[in-house]
Amino acid sequence: MRVLSGIQPTGPFHWGNYFGAIRQYIELQHTATESYYFIANLHALNTVRDKELLQQYTLNGATDLLALGLDPEKAVLFVQSDVPEVSELCWLLMTGTPMGLLERCVSYKDKIAKGLKADAGLFAYPVLQAADILAYDADIVPVGEDQLQHIEVCRDIAGSFNHHFGETFVMPKGKVLDQSAKVPGLDGEKMSKSYNNTLAVFDEEKKQRKLIMRIQTDSRPMEDPKDPEGDVLMDLYKLVASDEQVAEMSETYRKGGFGYGEVKKALANAAQEYWAEVRERREEFAAKPELVREILAAGAAKARAKASATLKRAQETGAVVPPI
Ligand code: TYM
Repeated sequence: MRVLSGIQPTGPFHWGNYFGAIRQYIELQHTATESYYFIANLHALNTVRDKELLQQYTLNGATDLLALGLDPEKAVLFVQSDVPEVSELCWLLMTGTPMGLLERCVSYKDKIAKGLKADAGLFAYPVLQAADILAYDADIVPVGEDQLQHIEVCRDIAGSFNHHFGETFVMPKGKVLDQSAKVPGLDGEKMSKSYNNTLAVFDEEKKQRKLIMRIQTDSRPMEDPKDPEGDVLMDLYKLVASDEQVAEMSETYRKGGFGYGEVKKALANAAQEYWAEVRERREEFAAKPELVREILAAGAAKARAKASATLKRAQETGAVVPPI
């Protein structure tokens, strides 16, 4: 089983990124035969257009993944743009991708629905993502729910290429975690940098606590029993608290007679405990940017070898670039 996933360096990683996707990367690296994880800096160009900032976010992203437990001995970690073969493969795929398929993709559709102008890069974004996945012959793509549509698009593109030119690409499958495929943000909507409702994984404790204390809750009287299901505080608590703590808190909700302030405090304490160790590990990696760069360079070499073999295969089966 070959596993691959990518993550955009558009700012600090948040709980949604971790519980929806990164946690899967860390778990799957032990059982996969090959794993590829990359920082999707080419995709991020659609939103971050400041070179230094993007470089910083890219290095930070790799540092974060290592601190969170990605093991370069087990998984290939690299930066997307270090593998130019993927961009070339993207073009081959683009020539056979119907416009209608991309017009239905949510991030493009949403932007247009809001009356905003979109770049060709945003429109073609899912094709680059398909090239990312297909270049490494990935069977499994661990992601949050919001990426499933892109994986379906990838399957469509791969299927029609295979149909037209003969078996070339492996059909990938998306993999989401039932409990955290869509982590809510501070306002109850999906946690996302673009909604400005995130809790960053590596924010210092004080900042995280402050944000948690500001989460909006309903204004029902404190004495009323409350349903623990579908409550943002409870949903976030489930991610960082132990099973016993969650059972106890659910009971408190059902009985009623408590203040949300208490729940927020419990959530902030559980979060502090949950992240303490990785925060320390992050300091260690952050002090050694050269080590992180070396890991990325070694990862890029391995990733390039794999992607160039796939590109060659696609060129040969597809005969789209015939040698003359
Ligand atoms: P990105 O950078 O937006 O998000 C990275 C990963 O985090 C997941 N995620 C969430 N999961 C649960 N709840 C949330 N609130 C939440 N927010 C984000 C995302 O689903 C994703 O798995 N297009 C991709 C990057 C990419 C990619 C790829 C992924 C580029 N090429 C190839 C897989 C395969 C993206 O924008 O993810």
